[in-house]
Amino acid sequence: MEKSTIYITRKIPEELLKPYEERFSFRMWEKEDERVPRDVLLQEAKDADGLFTMLSDLVDEELLAQASNLKVVANLAVGYDNIDIVAAKKHHVIVTNTPDVLSETTADLGFSLLMAAARRIVEASKFIEQDKWNEWAPYLLAGADIHHKTIGIFGMGRIGEGIAKRATGFNMNVRYHNRNRKPAVEKELGVIYSSFDELLRESDFIVSVVPLTDETANVFNSEAFKKMKSSAIFINISRGAVVDEDALLEALDSGEIRAAGLDVFREEPIRSSHPLALRNDVVCLPHIGSASTETRTTMIQLCLDNITAVLDGKEPKTPVK
Ligand code: DGY
Repeated sequence: MEKSTIYITRKIPEELLKPYEERFSFRMWEKEDERVPRDVLLQEAKDADGLFTMLSDLVDEELLAQASNLKVVANLAVGYDNIDIVAAKKHHVIVTNTPDVLSETTADLGFSLLMAAARRIVEASKFIEQDKWNEWAPYLLAGADIHHKTIGIFGMGRIGEGIAKRATGFNMNVRYHNRNRKPAVEKELGVIYSSFDELLRESDFIVSVVPLTDETANVFNSEAFKKMKSSAIFINISRGAVVDEDALLEALDSGEIRAAGLDVFREEPIRSSHPLALRNDVVCLPHIGSASTETRTTMIQLCLDNITAVLDGKEPKTPVK
């Protein structure tokens, strides 16, 4: 059987490809920390049967229209806002993502970020790094309590559930807002459904876990920040574009909210000169939600299995519907 051509848009460990080498001829962008240039991606896509993409690769009508052999795009992320799903359907290209396998790992990161922002962990670490620790003091780097506070989770998918579970271990009151109510989750975890407004007004911690869609773009705008408690801490582990970053900066400057923890930004990567990265009241991370070694390996294997299934004419494990 002739081998199908798969283009992988970032360097991934060769040993993970070995089990698939009889079936596929792999080509790969050989850099780990640099995205594939657009012209290279367009060129490679032209004769590929499958594309293995990162969330930083734009898969749009222009690419799909030229990729006449393409049957599958396997995206190494649960989010797929980098892919034009309507155009993919039009061109009969199946898109897959990596849900479920990353939920617990991403929930771990979300909760770590919440704790880091609340207890000023990064600022405190820098304090020693900068040799500012002269003496113990009663309110030195005093942060906010986490236990027994109210957390508002915006988006109750698997990652949201993972965060809710962790929050119950801290005796937090858990509220959530989601497009559809989740009675089973409410019953199992004792979480309370709230309107979006209620969530903003009542929560001490607001955690965004929603996918980026037309409805969620810019939902955290100045109006939303104004509704939050002045002591609120805002956490975003979903996509940067759900937040109006200027409005967030303004809310922090004016004391409308207390602090933020951000794993995602409108334009990634950000530099150290980014106004959000310059602040002590914001913890910034370089989009590492699902980045544990175990989970990234599982995600890569899932992408390869999805590609195999589609090219074998079978239903992939995790298609984007
Ligand atoms: C995803 O999978 O969409 C996450 O943002 C990756 O960390």
